[in-house]
Amino acid sequence: MASMPSARAAPDALARRGARAQPAWRRPVRHHAACARVRRDARLGTCAYASSSAPTARASGAGGGGHLAVGGDARLSGLVRVGGAKNAVLALLAGTLACSEPVTLTNVPDLRDVRSMIAVLESVGAKVTRLNESTGDARTVSDVDGLGTLRVDCSRITSSAFTIDTVSKLRASFFAAGPMLARTGWVEMPLPGGCAIGARPVDLHLRGFEALGARVRVTEEGTVVATTAVGDDDDADGACRSTAPLRGRADMSLRFPSVGATHSLMTAAALAEGTTVIRGAAAEPEVADLARMLNAAGADIRGAGTDTITVRGVGDAKAAARMANDSKKKGVLDVASVASLGGCAHRAIPDRIEAGTFLVAAAVTRSSIELEPVILNHVRSTMDVLEAFGCAFETSAVSEKSRTENENETSREVRLRVIPPASRTDARPVTFATAPFPGVPTDMQPQLCVLASAASGVSFCRETVFESRVAHVEQLRLMGVDAVAEGETVTVRGGATTGESEVSDEQNAYAYETRDVFGSDLRATAALVLAGLCAKGTTRVFGLEHLDRGYERLDEKLRALGADVARREE
Ligand code: EPZ
Repeated sequence: MASMPSARAAPDALARRGARAQPAWRRPVRHHAACARVRRDARLGTCAYASSSAPTARASGAGGGGHLAVGGDARLSGLVRVGGAKNAVLALLAGTLACSEPVTLTNVPDLRDVRSMIAVLESVGAKVTRLNESTGDARTVSDVDGLGTLRVDCSRITSSAFTIDTVSKLRASFFAAGPMLARTGWVEMPLPGGCAIGARPVDLHLRGFEALGARVRVTEEGTVVATTAVGDDDDADGACRSTAPLRGRADMSLRFPSVGATHSLMTAAALAEGTTVIRGAAAEPEVADLARMLNAAGADIRGAGTDTITVRGVGDAKAAARMANDSKKKGVLDVASVASLGGCAHRAIPDRIEAGTFLVAAAVTRSSIELEPVILNHVRSTMDVLEAFGCAFETSAVSEKSRTENENETSREVRLRVIPPASRTDARPVTFATAPFPGVPTDMQPQLCVLASAASGVSFCRETVFESRVAHVEQLRLMGVDAVAEGETVTVRGGATTGESEVSDEQNAYAYETRDVFGSDLRATAALVLAGLCAKGTTRVFGLEHLDRGYERLDEKLRALGADVARREE
């Protein structure tokens, strides 16, 4: 078995884009001689180790598919309901693989990514139904519109090998690798490959699996095979091989607080035998939400939401061996569990990035709107940038008291009103750098660049989490925004006019010309919609295939706030 790659990464494609400036943790790790092949595959976007921007994003930005026709000079008013958090729900769904009894998830948004993750779970035997809470009626999700409440039953795992067909639609599928490895002692998971915002390697996940006692290798085709089995491992289906749970690790540290690696390793450690301490963990609210669900299902996780997480695993090697023998005797074909949690009911947290996107929509259209539910602590850093811009905020109780259990001051849900600066000249330039939570979320960076374009003066927006998350800048420039991306920093000269005519304070619109613009990823497309609200005339924003992955009915919600936004499917 090839040994794990050393962290010393030699410069590659990224080097041509000034990777020299990249901190070590951002350079893809390299293998030995096989690496050349891996790199070749990576350039084809099939392997995460050294991949560069996958071709798909740009291709999809080339004017194909539907668009939103966004009317400019918009004014918004009213209340918008914030849905469940996409990035929490994806992790929660992957985490249900650790549970051998049904999990009921509520506040689940109907998003393309959520449906892709459900397909990933169903591909290994999970039964996922949408529950109608009032009638109790359970329907398969493919037959229904709207999700809301899901019952996820992973009591039977029919395979621990994920196929490229299901996982290739969703990078976050890789979050399921840790739970599956911990549950069955075996996982086969294709490498996710890079995307428009960066190489996005998964070396931290793989190193973590090794630290928990698993053996890890990457096949010729770019599939990760990880197992706790000892001895020869060449027959693909791990049904009757591994009996050992993972082993807790007292000192596991992540060189970067990767959200996905923290989700995956925290869940895996919950099923390990012994205690694991993850230092340098991601502290994102989505991590704390996953820990809350796993604890409700019988795990013992403490410190989630901070950079040090302690997990006392439920794994028990002797019990696992007994279970495996029993299922062998019974000739059970399902993949045997080496460890598992029970079931539970859990409500996903509200989406802080959707909330942040609407806050920016209000600020750039100089409108006052209300949002609920919002957890202030989750959007604090975004609010700080908006306050620097000149916005003010008011909070009040949510109309629908939805969170009752384990609600404390930091996770209390409120209704949030945003009050924009009185005039354009009161809209001050901003300077921010993205960072892991509690820093400014990288998923708000493109939208905050649009905010900067509405300020009177020069703003500096620095991206420190992903190495190529600036594709929106080129599209904003097409609309007449004076923005330049150099290395990690986007410099935006706001309120500037590139058109011949100044715009008065009364008018909401800036000098943006209407054009067809193309989103290359989820947040970039949302940012272009926000810019369209401020343009003169109607802007056609292409890239719905990205937008629908992370925003539930964004056009409808904007229309309900008074915007002129129409969806064109052609
Ligand atoms: C999650 O992605 C989110 N996705 C992303 O949101 C978000 O941008 C990101 O966290 C950061 O907040 C979901 O939750 C589904 P990471 P994830 O592992 O987990 C490097 C959106 O728009 N890294 O924290 O994949 C990596 O390359 C999406 O909703 C390694 O080097 O992000 C990146 O530069 C986009 N090795 C940085 O860490 C690893 O093994 C952060 O990645 C893992 C990550």
